[in-house]
Amino acid sequence: MRTNDAQMLVLSALADGPLHGYAVNTAIERMTGERLGRGSLSSALARLRGKGLIEYLEGEGRRRPMRLTSAGREVLEGELESLAHVAGRIFETVVPDKVAYQDRLAATDVAHSYKQAVLDALAVRPGHLVLDLGCGPGTDLGALARAAAPAGMVLGVDSDPQMTRQALTRIAGLPHADVLMADVHALPLPPCSADRVRTDRVLQHVADVPGVLAETRRVLRPGGRLVMAEPDWDSLAVDHPDLDVARAYTRHITDRIVRNAIVGRQLPRLAEEAGFAVTSVVPVTSVFREVHAADQVLGLQRNTERAVAAGYLTRRQADGWLDHLARSPFFAAVTLYIVTAEAPAPT
Ligand SMILES: C[S@@+](CC[C@H](N)C(=O)[O-])C[C@H]1O[C@@H](n2cnc3c(N)ncnc32)[C@H](O)[C@@H]1O
Repeated sequence: MRTNDAQMLVLSALADGPLHGYAVNTAIERMTGERLGRGSLSSALARLRGKGLIEYLEGEGRRRPMRLTSAGREVLEGELESLAHVAGRIFETVVPDKVAYQDRLAATDVAHSYKQAVLDALAVRPGHLVLDLGCGPGTDLGALARAAAPAGMVLGVDSDPQMTRQALTRIAGLPHADVLMADVHALPLPPCSADRVRTDRVLQHVADVPGVLAETRRVLRPGGRLVMAEPDWDSLAVDHPDLDVARAYTRHITDRIVRNAIVGRQLPRLAEEAGFAVTSVVPVTSVFREVHAADQVLGLQRNTERAVAAGYLTRRQADGWLDHLARSPFFAAVTLYIVTAEAPAPT
């Protein structure tokens, strides 16, 4: 029996006490957003009765209420327990700590490879001042400091106190690195002071992307280089038999979860508009074939619950979606763009 089976829905509807047939379907509609068809409901009732899982109480004709038998309650509880066990093993229900989440992401193969590509594109030389805007817990500061040493340095900038503290802990003892708690919309740095600037999944969150690009242009010296790695969440493709449900899930992410969800595709235009010359755009697609690994990055169950609350998915669609993701061969992909841009040197 599966969560979205008609019989399971009837058993769940009767969990709180006896109901007559019409009220059973109303309770199912409340749980799932849809009523069962007349045929499905009567056949589910007949089968459950045949198995001794529900019974009719005394009453008038077709209005006789029905209730779970003790065997029915046992089956329902067993099923719920096993579903919770499967879901609990696969999906993370608690929001992870933000530092732990960034560390988890940084440890994935795809992160290693695109972060290396960003480092290569930056072409940091000894003596450079490198800014890591939105440095988070300081994941990349060590590699940037080593590249700028011995005469240069990396400065990590982040507005979040917890991230800044963590980044400072990570660079403790590193001579060519420092961390500043500041907003990337208003950098406390003089014009033309930086040789290299990097953003890694930061512009997707800021209030004003053109404003941050203008500020970056101000602090970057002529001939200096900016490398941005930012996602395009509209590219999130999850395999599911009902394409409308998969699209609704992605639509909810782009509409409600990530502030600048499609910034990846917008960056070449926005960077040119800010006065940069864009020299390269490289797509990096992460492919997930394992649901647990995908959930660790995408928060599949948490975001599904939010999509239900926001009206993008019905309860029934959400249950069917998670059930399918948990039990079937899994595929999801999302693309991030690495955009390299130069601040033009004076002619
Ligand atoms: C997804 S994390 C990425 C962290 C880091 N770049 C990395 O690759 O691990 C985004 C970071 O941007 C920071 N951030 C977002 N908006 C910011 C702003 N306006 N000013 C400074 N930092 C900001 C957040 O605090 C967070 O640490």
